[in-house]
Amino acid sequence: MSDSAYPPEDDRFLADVIHGLSQDQKGLPPKYFYDATGSALFDKICELDEYYPTRTEIDLLRQRATDVAQIIDGHHLIEYGSGSSVKIRTLLDAADGLASYVPVDISESHLLAAADSISRDYPDLVVIPVCADFTRAFPLPDDVNDGQKAGFFPGSTIGNFSRADARSFLEMAADMLGVSGNLIIGVDLKKDPEILHSAYNDNEGVTAAFNKNLLHRINRELDGSFDVDAFEHEARYVAGEGRIEMHLISTRDQEVEVSGHTFQFRAGESIHTENSHKYDVDEFHELGRQAGFTPERTWTDSRNLFSVHHLRVAA
Ligand code: AVJ
Repeated sequence: MSDSAYPPEDDRFLADVIHGLSQDQKGLPPKYFYDATGSALFDKICELDEYYPTRTEIDLLRQRATDVAQIIDGHHLIEYGSGSSVKIRTLLDAADGLASYVPVDISESHLLAAADSISRDYPDLVVIPVCADFTRAFPLPDDVNDGQKAGFFPGSTIGNFSRADARSFLEMAADMLGVSGNLIIGVDLKKDPEILHSAYNDNEGVTAAFNKNLLHRINRELDGSFDVDAFEHEARYVAGEGRIEMHLISTRDQEVEVSGHTFQFRAGESIHTENSHKYDVDEFHELGRQAGFTPERTWTDSRNLFSVHHLRVAA
């Protein structure tokens, strides 16, 4: 396990909340959605009829499992985030000669639970969990570093990053994977805004509950006084930015306390809680090239909803 160079997660959460709520456009980082309640709500989102990304990507990975297995054979397979057990299993089922599986996650408890469950089901696989924030450069164990490396970054998690941060992430990954290292990455595609709108404004209100859970979490963990019912979920496609934006809109003028800090809200004022960037295939290829990769293959579904890319680190 690598040592964390960052302050304890609680301090960091409070610092990020105070910082985010002190801006003119209030905002909160989407990584804080995923406490136990938020993770359970996200799992429910993935099952919704309207939320196409998860099932589309899993279908693509299953259909292309043999191709992907050929690419990653003999490699150390580094997964950025360890939350997507169904997806990694499609790869592990198809690959027979992996050097190791290296899940990377900032939450030690999630990481170890995921690593255990993979070890149990794939007893011959060497599993090397690494506890780290994969949005910054982090060291790999020497054994892994010395071998051939493949990265796996499913779920269009890259969509949470701004285009500039996505490029930085890819540069970091290229550096880590080394020349001719391979990256398998899932990326949500630009499409009819109606489809996007329903995916983030589902009929059952699960996405709304997921968004609002962030305020409940602040109340629970940071002694917050949010009246959660006085905020409304909003998700809209902003075409100029090529992204879905999620906000929580204050329905009235109000004052909220978080660990003794006071924040004012005007009626209609928003907290920007998430960006989910969408890419065209060509646009993503260009981003990959800028970061030092050569686009090798791209798999899309018949409705062009989602893409899985194989990028290789250029010499
Ligand atoms: C996990 C970031 C890919 O952007 O679609 C789902 C999160 N937010 N519904 C996405 C999310 C609202 C999801 N990612």
